[in-house]
Amino acid sequence: GTSDLFATCSKNDIRVWHTPEHRELLRIVVPAIATCHAIEFMRDGRSIISAWNDGKIRAFMPQTGRLMYVINHAHSLGVTAIATTSDCKRIISGGGEGQVRIWEIREKTRKLEEVLKEHISAVSCIKINKNDRECVTASLDGTCIIWDIIRFARKQMILANTLFKCVCYHPEECQIITSGTDRKIAYWEVFDGSAIREVEGSASGSINGMDITSDGAYFVTGGDDHLVKLWNYNEGAVTHVGVGHSGNITHLKICPGNKYIVSVSADGAILLWNYPGSH
Ligand SMILES: *[C@@H]1O[C@H](CO)[C@@H](O)[C@H](O)[C@H]1NC(C)=O
Repeated sequence: GTSDLFATCSKNDIRVWHTPEHRELLRIVVPAIATCHAIEFMRDGRSIISAWNDGKIRAFMPQTGRLMYVINHAHSLGVTAIATTSDCKRIISGGGEGQVRIWEIREKTRKLEEVLKEHISAVSCIKINKNDRECVTASLDGTCIIWDIIRFARKQMILANTLFKCVCYHPEECQIITSGTDRKIAYWEVFDGSAIREVEGSASGSINGMDITSDGAYFVTGGDDHLVKLWNYNEGAVTHVGVGHSGNITHLKICPGNKYIVSVSADGAILLWNYPGSH
């Protein structure tokens, strides 16, 4: 909830950064030889939840880096995606085997509540809606699924000839946008899963990461063309292009308050961009 801090994950470690000074505040090194695929701050700021290729979900204290808990065997082929509900009571994880798992998080216990088995390949991205009742999962199997996470049922399935890498809810939650290896940015209706429009996201290379502003007016994408692109949502048009990465962009985020965009690439670079018009 602040633009002053962000965290990144990679092979063996998680790092917390102080944005104004471009300084590393904390490095959490895991003793196992493992790669962290995804992280999220719990909304209350009390934990960093992380998804690892050794099948574990690890939670750390953000100030000290101390390990709070581990969920062992969370997924059989590595934990590939993770999200947390805004009430801090649940973690939703996705695995390399395609399962989506819902965990109940209490002070001292972590309980597996439900396993959703519909994806047949790795889950690449999970987003939860604002009231914590619904989520969308993107998968390399070419589907995105919208789930009711109260009744544990599939609401909609979106199919495309692509390996989906990223998905975002528009803040009004009537539409989602997706992207992946077909380099297309597709807009979909949440209500019935129908396609609304499609725009060419990149001339070459997969789109791997995407984020949207809190008012839904703009979104950013990044991928194998090494470019950070800012888009006008309604027009589906690029307004700004960031040139700087020399590796494939794997993820990117717009910080709260639209002050910065943070993008990371496979060569280990972290680039901090001034959000256009904010400085
Ligand atoms: C970067 O993307 C290109 C094109 O998609 C791919 O061939 C290459 O293997 C990727 N490199 C890395 C390090 O992931």
